[in-house]
Amino acid sequence: MTADQTVPRLPASLGLDQADPVLVDTITEGLARVEGVLLDVVQSDVDFVEQAALHLVKAGGKRFRPLFTLLSAQFADGNTDEVITAAAAVELVHLATLYHDDVMDEATMRRGAKSVNARWDNTIAILTGDFLFAHASGLVAELGSDAARIIAQTMGKLVTGQMRETVGPGEDDDAVQHYLGVIGQKTGSLIATSGRYGGMFSNAAPEHTETLHRFGDLIGTAFQISDDIIDIASPADESGKTPGTDLREGVKTLPVLYALAQDPDPRLAELLAGPITDDDLVDEALTLLRKSSGLEQAVRTLSDYADRARVELATLPSCSARDALDMLARYVVARTR
Ligand code: IPE
Ligand code: IPE
Ligand code: MG
Ligand code: MG
Repeated sequence: MTADQTVPRLPASLGLDQADPVLVDTITEGLARVEGVLLDVVQSDVDFVEQAALHLVKAGGKRFRPLFTLLSAQFADGNTDEVITAAAAVELVHLATLYHDDVMDEATMRRGAKSVNARWDNTIAILTGDFLFAHASGLVAELGSDAARIIAQTMGKLVTGQMRETVGPGEDDDAVQHYLGVIGQKTGSLIATSGRYGGMFSNAAPEHTETLHRFGDLIGTAFQISDDIIDIASPADESGKTPGTDLREGVKTLPVLYALAQDPDPRLAELLAGPITDDDLVDEALTLLRKSSGLEQAVRTLSDYADRARVELATLPSCSARDALDMLARYVVARTR
């Protein structure tokens, strides 16, 4: 029998195809337990609430944050009950932000399915997001006051990042620095906490937990850069979202900022001046951006962040989990290709 037949595959391989099969087994088992918690906590006496909450849980998603929590737990005691609870909690916080984000971005597609705001309406999406935040808080409360304080700070940062993105850079701000700060807050923060929780709740050495936190911050920032590249470069059937959403919202992501800074095609500069509402114009801007050097430069910045994350790993003990984290950092870059 080949290894492929004996070892259950991860729900999405996330670059871990080459990881140690024993580790893959452990992580797959952990993710199945996390899935059980997610399905359990979104139950409600009110049928409609449960339906709206289950909509995106069941639509899929990469489970990147719980996966990272579980990998981070493998330097000490592994998949403890608390690690599983923490991994489910970070996915629930993430999910809640997606419900709200799709309202803000007026998105119609999420995880290859209709977004909740499109399937029902904005009110349902906002309230279901709140329902998921409530359940995430309930789970974290089981983990004690340190965990509760950490997730409260994380959510504060995440929302601040979303707010700063909405407002945009001030006149005196450097737009690229503003962008990098925003994505560290809105995306890096929760992924950093995912790694930190994995370390904390597996009883890892404090310095290892700190490393996992820093690594998470860097790959989380890289993850958002890759998401912003994918919004321009990838078709909807790969991302499960509508390409060009950031252009429609007038959010200037890294490839756009770089393209604008590099003496762009005048037509591209004209198109990028504000939000683009017309579908044909979005397509035209996407075509020009895909050919622009801004996109290449954004891929280089993405690689730099992933490399910085990988350097952090050097202080962790050499083992299959460390190798897998290295693969995860490389996956964040490779997924844009
Ligand atoms: C999307 O996150 C939002 C970002 C922070 C980029 P994911 O790409 O992890 O979304 P799912 O969970 O796989 O749907
Ligand atoms: C939102 O960023 C990140 C958070 C939800 C914190 P995006 O707007 O780029 O996420 P997607 O592309 O809609 O998933
Ligand atoms: Mg969005
Ligand atoms: Mg995006």
